[in-house]
Amino acid sequence: MAERARLLLLGGTGEAAALARRLAGDARIETITSLAGRTRTPAALPGRVRVGGFGGAAGLAAYLANEKIDLLIDATHPYAARMPHAAAEACVRTGVPRVRLLRPTWVRAPGDRWIAAGDLAAAAAALPGLAHRVFLTTGQRDLPAFAPLTEIWFLIRLIEPPADRLPLTQCQVLLDRGPFRAEDESALMRAHRIEAVVSKNSGGEATYGKIAAARALGLPVLMIERPAQPSGETVASIENCIAWIAAQRN
Ligand SMILES: NC(=O)c1ccc[n+]([C@@H]2O[C@H](COP(=O)([O-])OP(=O)(O)OC[C@H]3O[C@@H](n4cnc5c(N)ncnc54)[C@H](OP(=O)(O)O)[C@@H]3O)[C@@H](O)[C@H]2O)c1
Repeated sequence: MAERARLLLLGGTGEAAALARRLAGDARIETITSLAGRTRTPAALPGRVRVGGFGGAAGLAAYLANEKIDLLIDATHPYAARMPHAAAEACVRTGVPRVRLLRPTWVRAPGDRWIAAGDLAAAAAALPGLAHRVFLTTGQRDLPAFAPLTEIWFLIRLIEPPADRLPLTQCQVLLDRGPFRAEDESALMRAHRIEAVVSKNSGGEATYGKIAAARALGLPVLMIERPAQPSGETVASIENCIAWIAAQRN
């Protein structure tokens, strides 16, 4: 490995941004953060940033070789279903060491009324009969699964205004970027007379407020399970990522 290692950081999460900021002060690492390009105004990041898909595992393998990448950290969101697998395959092909940074899941606490849903369709199927007013926090791309539920009113929270008309019959859109405090989430849910929450098990602090608020209000949470992850080394924190980088360099 060269004196200054080139690191490709697959991002799109708060952890990836925090890791990029941590590595910005390390002269021995050159970090390139990669974003899918879903957010039109992503938060500012230090170091080099590239935007857009690579074209599957083959495209990423070519990028790793062309850019002479030494290390890859996959810090994509726990619900990014394709990128982690493409990264695993591309790194096997090219021999680039890879680690997955994956937040631990939230764990059910006493008083939680979670209902496990295998996927978005299962969550949508469980809603009729459970609630008429639902706080749906899964993200804009996941809304079509709920389109058939014309009798249910949804409160949707998005980071930026939707580019297209939303596929829901009855909904209100809130624009906001986390972190969200439990007290504020509780007040929001009360104000909108929310009866159930639909959430991914994203883990981390930034969006846990709605889970704590649902518990406090006694509301059910339809918790969508995480997609399968590729095998390989996984770390749960930024500190462990930094330690992994150090170990690769020795
Ligand atoms: N899914 C969520 O709930 C969620 C929530 C918050 C943030 N995000 C972030 O949003 C991005 C897209 O999420 P997704 O659910 O669409 O993931 P995905 O299903 O794994 O990705 C779909 C495609 O988008 C491209 N892509 C994804 N992440 C990329 C990255 N960091 N850099 C370059 N290209 C990337 C890849 O295209 P090619 O095949 O062409 O390479 C990938 O095949 C991810 O970076 C993720 O971290 C997702």
